[in-house]
Amino acid sequence: MQDKSINILGIETSCDETAASVVADGQIVKSSVIASQTKLHEKYGGVVPEIASRAHIEKIHPVIAEAMEQAKMGKDDIDAIAVANQPGLTIALVVGVTAAKTLSFAWDKPLIAINHLHAHLQSAMLSEDKLQLPAVALIVSGGHTCLYDYHSPLEPKLLGHTIDDAAGEAFDKVATILKLPYPGGPSIEKTAEKGNPDAIKFPRSMLSRDSLDFSFSGIKTAVLYYCHGQDMKGQNKVDSMSAQQIADIAASFQAAVIDVLVKKTKRAAEKIGAKTVLLGGGVAANNKLRTALQKMCHNTVPPTKLLVAPKQYCTDNAVMVASLAYYKFKAGIFADLTLEPKASG
Ligand code: KG4
Ligand code: ZN
Repeated sequence: MQDKSINILGIETSCDETAASVVADGQIVKSSVIASQTKLHEKYGGVVPEIASRAHIEKIHPVIAEAMEQAKMGKDDIDAIAVANQPGLTIALVVGVTAAKTLSFAWDKPLIAINHLHAHLQSAMLSEDKLQLPAVALIVSGGHTCLYDYHSPLEPKLLGHTIDDAAGEAFDKVATILKLPYPGGPSIEKTAEKGNPDAIKFPRSMLSRDSLDFSFSGIKTAVLYYCHGQDMKGQNKVDSMSAQQIADIAASFQAAVIDVLVKKTKRAAEKIGAKTVLLGGGVAANNKLRTALQKMCHNTVPPTKLLVAPKQYCTDNAVMVASLAYYKFKAGIFADLTLEPKASG
């Protein structure tokens, strides 16, 4: 039995959060620090890569220092440095990768490269010891929507992904159409609370019968046409809509996206005979999605176990990076100082 815990410092800079965390043995969160850039990108209605990169450069050192301080640890307590090096915005990723390589060299600690999407999956595994296999994992974030056949933290096998917009991207774009505040996902969810999800029948794109891929650009366009007219020549009706009408659009849109996510996850679970379903990524913070997936898992015969990432670890964070790195550490999978950021994953 191992007598000393394995403490890993994780670093995350793939998009618009600068984050660092120390996690012991893959599950015990010693610290989690996140510097969010939401305020910086708000007025542009989306993440501006150059602004993100500059903010990461400013924040990376204080964020890492705070994570070490919160964990009450010094460099001698750390066993490895882990960093998300793909996928994401290259000029954002490079900041975290450079910091991790520098610490790895200066502190003489092994370096571990982490796939940001696989790390999102790990958030759902944080409090789980015995994963019942086979398992299907759904990752719904701002940049990705993916279904995996999940055997172990190190072996997620892609079953399907979006062929156009990611689910989170659709939430963000529809929020812009409805002139709701950035970031769009939480705004739509809040606005939808007062709306009728059956008010408008937006399209649910299921693609072919067996497809496990997703497509969300159609529903986004349907909302756009609904608000601007089919030929886009009609005046923008959003300004003259009542709060109730906006809430009905938000609720109907949200219901359509969730319907597709749940049906596709069910399809994937049936295909591999899943005993467990995992849910992670920014959109996994959505209460209606969490409830709908829970219902789907409960109604499966026999019921499927749902593992959902805790809300604070749904959106980008470094806990998921440090946690996943533990399994790579145990398997002896390390990177070296030639590690580079990669936009795709
Ligand atoms: O995982 P994440 O932090 O970043 C990426 O890796 O992309 O996900 C961010 C996405 C954004 O599109 C945001 O609008 C969405 O997650 N999101 C939500 C909610 N909270 C965040 N979407 C729907 N409902 C929410 N409550
Ligand atoms: Zn993410």
